[in-house]
Amino acid sequence: MGDLRGITARLDHVAALGADALWLSPFYPSPQVDAGYDVSDYCDVDPMFGTLDDFDELLAAAHERGLRVTIDLVPNHCSDQHPWFRAAVAAGRGSAERSRFHFVDGRGPDGDLPPNNWRSVFGGPSWTRVTEPDGTPGQWYYHLFAAEQPDFDWGNPEILTEFERILRFWLDRGVDGFRIDVSDALIKDTTWPDTEDGSPVIPKDESSAVHDVYRAFRRVMDEYPGDRMAVIETGAPDDVVAAFLRPDEMHLAFNFRFVKAGWDGASLRAAVDESIAANAAVGAPTTWVTDNHDTTRSVTRYGADVTLVGDYVPDVAQERALDPEAFARGTRRARAMSVLLLSLPGAAYVYAGQELGLPEVEDLPLEVLQDPAVARSGGRVRGRDGCRVPLPWSGVRPPFGFAADDAATWLPQPEGWASLTVERQEADPASMLALYRSVLALRRAEPALRSGSVSWEEPGPDLLVLRRRAAAGGRDLRVVVNLTEEPVELPAGEVLVASSPVDGGMLAGESAVVLA
Ligand code: NOJ
Repeated sequence: MGDLRGITARLDHVAALGADALWLSPFYPSPQVDAGYDVSDYCDVDPMFGTLDDFDELLAAAHERGLRVTIDLVPNHCSDQHPWFRAAVAAGRGSAERSRFHFVDGRGPDGDLPPNNWRSVFGGPSWTRVTEPDGTPGQWYYHLFAAEQPDFDWGNPEILTEFERILRFWLDRGVDGFRIDVSDALIKDTTWPDTEDGSPVIPKDESSAVHDVYRAFRRVMDEYPGDRMAVIETGAPDDVVAAFLRPDEMHLAFNFRFVKAGWDGASLRAAVDESIAANAAVGAPTTWVTDNHDTTRSVTRYGADVTLVGDYVPDVAQERALDPEAFARGTRRARAMSVLLLSLPGAAYVYAGQELGLPEVEDLPLEVLQDPAVARSGGRVRGRDGCRVPLPWSGVRPPFGFAADDAATWLPQPEGWASLTVERQEADPASMLALYRSVLALRRAEPALRSGSVSWEEPGPDLLVLRRRAAAGGRDLRVVVNLTEEPVELPAGEVLVASSPVDGGMLAGESAVVLA
């Protein structure tokens, strides 16, 4: 499965990569219906992943290496096994216990129809009916995701008090920050209106009460000395996201524009300009993301020329394994994108295995798939397991150093990953890993790459030339991305890093460089 001590044992890899911080996905006690995003105890570690002592050791070992640690906070919903939800089901209609969740009577003469037509993100209705303590069919509760993930009613002030306690519990242990799950969805329209397409009504504009929650979170974080950071997860449009980044709210927001842009110059350029402009309005830095645990890996997206459609669930079209030509194309483009991703101002996120150029594992047998979206869609979507397969560290066959030699990992690794192990890539100066290390070292050395302004020198949609100006100190640099398949002549300058060899002043097709 992987566990906290396993992460501690591999921290040198993260430090050698040149990262500043880690983001850990949920490790709390959980029935694991949604990879730990169904939390049954917010202040402990699932025995499957270790103990609180293991967590403290991980934190200390990370801090020794200069790495900050961000943990995942899941405030929208808990597990149906959380003591509060079990108590709510047991306590019955109208109880204080039920008022922590959204329990609503059903429609129809017997209340056997859900309160409205809203659909769950993972497919199917977002309401599930409980049996009352006396054995009769009862009320329905609301869940934006799976039925095992009941939503809290943030209209009840007890919820905020509890989450303030949870924040302090982890801040007291020394964590540096939080990644906040589905952060914009905490407040629902509890008049529960039907909608045309069954999508939920979730007010998130700047006057919504959801912002009071983040102001309160911020006050708690500010009680602690030193720098603390919270990054929110939201798929909302740029201007809506910016409202969450006002000076008294959260610090960063994931920016999924690159995930959606695909290999397309005009949309990449628009993504850069519009993201920076929206955040500038509230004085917040932006973030850059091509991969995470919810999206088809970018090597596969770029190789197959597919852009993501939904927010969480990868496009169904991607069921076949990449042929060698598509894998080579995807790798070339992902290499070029890594140069762009890591040369932009603000914070860049690298998802485990992205630095190895892992492709999506598209041929996982149906019986090993664990994403709740698979069952809830009746197998129509394959879900997100293909990007979550354990990393290959060393050796020539699975489990590639991830587990004891004969152990089966929770998702099986492809035999073909023998050529993608960390061990192999460390020995190869042309590997994806070597490229990530060089670009991150350059980002650390050159203020122009991590802060300052962005302007464009070329109008052409297929050749991006970004001028990167340092705010104060440091030299100006240029980043050139060739989106065509043909080589182009490079502007004059010293090549500081390149995603493919530069020959006679020519930049190969589907490649990128940083020039001084
Ligand atoms: C977003 C998380 O990234 C995803 O993995 C999870 O399924 C949903 N939120 C629900 O918690």
